[in-house]
Amino acid sequence: MTATASTAPANGVDVLGRNELPPHLDENLLTPRFYTTEFDKAAKTDLEIAREDFEAMFKEMEADYNLKHFDRKASLDRLDELSPEDKSIYESYLVRSVVSEFSGFLLFKEISNRFKKSGRQELGKFFQFLARDEARHAGFLGRALKAEGINVDLPNLGKKRAATFFPLSWVLYSLYLSEKIGYWRYILINRHLKANPEKVCAPLFDFFEPWCQDENRHGDCINMMMRCWPGMTKGFRGKLLSRFFLWSVFLTHTLTVCERGDFYKLLGIDPVLFDEEVIIQTNNTTRNSFPWVYKFDDGKFLKMRTEILAAFKSWRGSAGLAKPVAFGKFVSLILRQFALPMEKTDAVRYG
Ligand SMILES: [Fe+2]
Ligand SMILES: [Fe+2]
Repeated sequence: MTATASTAPANGVDVLGRNELPPHLDENLLTPRFYTTEFDKAAKTDLEIAREDFEAMFKEMEADYNLKHFDRKASLDRLDELSPEDKSIYESYLVRSVVSEFSGFLLFKEISNRFKKSGRQELGKFFQFLARDEARHAGFLGRALKAEGINVDLPNLGKKRAATFFPLSWVLYSLYLSEKIGYWRYILINRHLKANPEKVCAPLFDFFEPWCQDENRHGDCINMMMRCWPGMTKGFRGKLLSRFFLWSVFLTHTLTVCERGDFYKLLGIDPVLFDEEVIIQTNNTTRNSFPWVYKFDDGKFLKMRTEILAAFKSWRGSAGLAKPVAFGKFVSLILRQFALPMEKTDAVRYG
């Protein structure tokens, strides 16, 4: 990937043909993950069992409700009031987000192309709509970065890393969760900022509402795809996949939000409470799709999350002999959390 600082030559490329992020931003931000899957299997998707839902979702995506929502020109004045530290927190957030939106675009685009090549035109078009939205999100973030004098060369992002292979079921489970968790993240930030307008420091946040609607719809589209593969959500396999993806997505969210707490603090949000609310809501939403979700009534999952967070911090902060001991405690806690009780959902299934 390439990115250019405002201090770089006017064409945005240095003499070696490389670009760099400004020194206050970490280059590791620019390490996106890309995925590839069983495209031949995907081409055999039995759409007929979900025909009615598919037609409805297709029409909704085709209507493109947010076509004009990301084009409004918003004033950037508010950004000037940020301190240099706060500005770099904001910019790091933008870079991380642009990378994840763009990797979503690449995956949907690839799925769309493969469907079209296999003669599944309607599915190809359907995923093209999803790719369209992610490209729009990435483009919007790219423009916000440009306003900060940072150019991220998106087309080159995809060339940086080899793609990781995941079976189709893994891709659908993880895509569903990443869309729904994205929805809850954006909508909770949006609600907080509506209640605390003085914390809105950048025009970017004016757009979180259409943004979360897009992600929510994407989650519903993926849910529809999952329903076309009834075997994916049945029996032991369905339970194991539900358990693994909920656990890993929640754990990653907790650790990431804790490590990047400064961004949430900038907006006046308590990162630990934010993480907890995102997890509760996402687990609840997932009842509509996965055959099993974690049981939260007994409070064990969230209590263990607090212990995991403390163990993670003490592992990161320890040195010498204490380090492997702290690491062992962290690992045993996350494994115990993985095995916590789940409850069966009554998600609609076909087949
Ligand atoms: Fe997106
Ligand atoms: Fe999305």
